[in-house]
Amino acid sequence: MNKDLRKVVIAGNWKMNKTRPEAKALIEELKPVAAKATCDVVICVPFTNLETALDATKGTNIKVGAQNCHFEKSGAFTGEVSADMLAEMGVEYVVLGHSERRQYFGETDVTVNKRVKAALAAGLKVILCVGELLEQREQGVTEEIVGMQTKIALQGVTDEELKNVIIAYEPVWAIGTGKTATAEQANEVCKYIRSVIADLYSMADACEFVIQYGGSMNAKNAEELINQPDVDGGLIGGASLKAADFGVILEAGSNCIA
Ligand code: 13P
Repeated sequence: MNKDLRKVVIAGNWKMNKTRPEAKALIEELKPVAAKATCDVVICVPFTNLETALDATKGTNIKVGAQNCHFEKSGAFTGEVSADMLAEMGVEYVVLGHSERRQYFGETDVTVNKRVKAALAAGLKVILCVGELLEQREQGVTEEIVGMQTKIALQGVTDEELKNVIIAYEPVWAIGTGKTATAEQANEVCKYIRSVIADLYSMADACEFVIQYGGSMNAKNAEELINQPDVDGGLIGGASLKAADFGVILEAGSNCIA
């Protein structure tokens, strides 16, 4: 559906990996690989690596993102980092609502919504993660779950702000398991999310809205996934930690057939 209206975005989610010297080394390896890419390239690194990543990517086409932010501007929230703190550093993207945050850190649709609004108000671009558990897929409620997550996360987000939001559809059963959704399954849910965006905003907004797939995307399966009509790139965990593999995925994103 109007794939030519959207830019492919390939984002690496490094999760809790890499010390600063390791991060610097990986970025140095990534630079020549990313330079050839015509898609958007983002790396979402741990907070401790943000400054290193921002320095190391200066003058390159690699954009830097964080993996979470808090919804309050400042205050007594030990261990948290605000959206303004990230924006002030020059961080461009933030991943919000990742299933690991929902699963291990008590994140709910309501707190994801608060974080989304705070991040957008600070001028950050949001990669909003949604996705169903295996049992929810088996119960036949994937669309209900993903639709609900999308609707709640976007409550109060204006048409204008939506331009700074990407959704990553990440079926929880496919994350870090080696079990990828088939290209058809990925496309089906991404297409459904697009219809939710059309209902909430407009068809024109939905046509321009970037929806990534994430969950065991790798050098072997990226091309097929990214070439699906409603899949506009990927959010990549494990394979984003290997420059060669990430390079193959960037190539798939750059050569995507509109
Ligand atoms: P994997 O690519 O390691 O399955 O992780 C996907 C993910 O959770 C990206 O946010």
